[in-house]
Amino acid sequence: MIKRDRSKALFERAVKVMPGGNSRTTVWSAPFPLYAARGAGCRIWDVEGVERLDFLNNYTALIHGHAHPAITAAVAAQIANGTCFPMPTEAEVAHAELLCARIPSFERIRFANTGSEAVMMAVKLARAHTGRAKIAKTEGAYHGSYDPVEVSQDTPPALWGNGDPPTTAYTKGTPKGILDDTIVIPFNNAEQAERILRAHRHELACVLVDPVPNRTGMLPADPAYLATLRRVTQELGALLVFDEVISFRIGYRGAQGAFGIEPDLTSVGKIMGGGFAVGAVAGKAEFMALMDPRAGKPAVPHGGTFNANPVTMIAGRIAMEMMDEAAFARLNGLGDRLRRQAGEAFAVAGVPGQICGAGSLFRLHMTARRLFDYRSAILTPAESAATKAVTEAMLEGGILISPQGMGCLSSVMGEAEVDRFTEVLLAALRAVAARGLAAE
Ligand SMILES: Cc1ncc(COP(=O)(O)O)c(C=O)c1O
Repeated sequence: MIKRDRSKALFERAVKVMPGGNSRTTVWSAPFPLYAARGAGCRIWDVEGVERLDFLNNYTALIHGHAHPAITAAVAAQIANGTCFPMPTEAEVAHAELLCARIPSFERIRFANTGSEAVMMAVKLARAHTGRAKIAKTEGAYHGSYDPVEVSQDTPPALWGNGDPPTTAYTKGTPKGILDDTIVIPFNNAEQAERILRAHRHELACVLVDPVPNRTGMLPADPAYLATLRRVTQELGALLVFDEVISFRIGYRGAQGAFGIEPDLTSVGKIMGGGFAVGAVAGKAEFMALMDPRAGKPAVPHGGTFNANPVTMIAGRIAMEMMDEAAFARLNGLGDRLRRQAGEAFAVAGVPGQICGAGSLFRLHMTARRLFDYRSAILTPAESAATKAVTEAMLEGGILISPQGMGCLSSVMGEAEVDRFTEVLLAALRAVAARGLAAE
């Protein structure tokens, strides 16, 4: 049994002052979430004092786990000198230099405080550059909290129909104009996507795609699909935008380096903030120049009280500096080990299932069916029940992953942690099978 008394007491206080006691829909889980007390390295403690291996890393943001000494020391020194100023700082310049030197398509970069803002800025830049209103996104993909990119994020099977993916509102109250200006393409179906994009050739500002979309099952894109999007956007005069807020962590030069495809603009966040709130849009100088204030009001003005604050910039730069090519190779090797061993655990337990992902990212699926897009990856009720049972059993066994079965590794983990993950997964799968919960 998972101890929850102190979390329950905190939640009872929380619901009196926040809607549902919640500030972040992602961390909600019924009947109430477990509350965190602290983290150190690859471990996290909840408020009951229970220690677990943290394979969630604040939903992939922490590539060095919790409170890495190098980051903590540098941040502590900066905090003693002030946390934010009404002037730019050298810390911002240094972080921008590091990222632009590393990723060829990052000719210029602009910082913000969330991945949602990073995506929003990319969309605004694309619209300003092309003078066109419509954006295209893939069905089922999550790109943060910004009206146009929330569209068709969770289209239910009842609305799928037989034709092209429909535009459906995610948030109640989404204006019709937003739905009209968002074009939805299927993930990993190059032919259909190309046909849909060509039908909107004169109105299309950009195509937004996450190369390893978590909410589409953490299924890596087919490289040929991304190549088609690259070719078609070029032909139509639209921009190709990669959302690498999560998938930036799959390689030294991000997902674009791993897939060998250069987008025009990229939204990043999470790991490049070193554990602090961050987002950034980066890309070709020609497009980024739309934010340049030197000649008067820019085409795309962009403020933000805490943009590029020195605490985030220093933490982010140190985090990224520590992730050199060898560090990425080591971490991704551990990711391969975890996915291989987890795949074997399904076979040994005799439970239908698989593990997807890339680099240090993974997601468990309680089905053996072929997964390739949003619709194939959507969970049946039996799969949802099995996933919940497995992730709870793992939590009980001392492993934290998301309730959807998603997780990632951090650089402070080694083979021992990966092997422990596999042992706990195997025990969880056996327990779930014994309860008759394994899906067909
Ligand atoms: C692919 C992707 N894009 C954008 C975002 C939004 O980032 P943030 O939560 O920092 O606003 C997320 C967050 O998880 C994400 O996974």
